[in-house]
Amino acid sequence: MDISASTAFVTGANRGLGRHFAEQLLARGATVYAGARNPDSIDLAGAIPIAIDVTDPASVEAAARASSGVNLVINNAGSATGASLLTGDLADLRLEMDTHYFGSLAVTRAFAPQLAANGGGSILNVLSVLSWITFPNVGGYSAAKAAAWSMTNELRIELAGQGTTVSALHVGYMDTDMARHVEAEKNDPAVVAKLALDAVAAGELEILADDLSRQVQAGLAGGVAALYPQAA
Ligand SMILES: NC(=O)c1ccc[n+]([C@@H]2O[C@H](COP(=O)([O-])OP(=O)(O)OC[C@H]3O[C@@H](n4cnc5c(N)ncnc54)[C@H](OP(=O)(O)O)[C@@H]3O)[C@@H](O)[C@H]2O)c1
Repeated sequence: MDISASTAFVTGANRGLGRHFAEQLLARGATVYAGARNPDSIDLAGAIPIAIDVTDPASVEAAARASSGVNLVINNAGSATGASLLTGDLADLRLEMDTHYFGSLAVTRAFAPQLAANGGGSILNVLSVLSWITFPNVGGYSAAKAAAWSMTNELRIELAGQGTTVSALHVGYMDTDMARHVEAEKNDPAVVAKLALDAVAAGELEILADDLSRQVQAGLAGGVAALYPQAA
């Protein structure tokens, strides 16, 4: 797709990876609706702030009604509670599923007619290497990202009928608020946003942003023994 001529809607555009997406889309010449729970937190000149809480269906519908011409949707908003599957608060686990799975689904359903009316366009779902592998204290987040991965694959087929391309971005840790407590090598979110936008422009369906994502994806073929040797 021609990003420079696109009209994009980015969720969670006020900080982290979403802000990089919005900033780089503007730099490429796109019209950008910058979605945020608090639209006053959008500080990008030229962006059109728009209120959206992806866990609130009424808010999602209102955001779709308040925008026009959208042919690129980036489902970026995300939350990570660190709750344990076994002992964590169920409300935290539900929040992760509500945000990543039901939230991205609600946004897709709300914007699908607008995408169709504007030539089909593209959807980019920000997933994670944790769609494919998990470990304690990211179990709820991983389950939500795995659900969002499955959703992405199904919607890609369903939305092909209206000419909409659906892409998935898989990435390991990025240097944002979400991973500020993590002591590990982290990707630069500006670099990830750039490579993801380049891939969307090229029509790529599965975007692997780092070696970790490539290694884990390759490990899927080896089954549980390859990905979870500690459990064998
Ligand atoms: N950071 C990583 O290591 C990493 C790795 C792989 C994938 N990801 C994914 O990358 C995406 C961006 O995350 P990030 O690293 O940029 O995290 P971040 O810095 O914590 O930003 C999260 C963004 O999502 C927004 N958000 C959260 N819940 C929302 C809701 N219900 N409705 C609307 N917006 C909501 C936040 O808005 P508020 O300011 O209102 O809270 C914020 O703008 C997420 O999907 C995340 O799962 C992150």
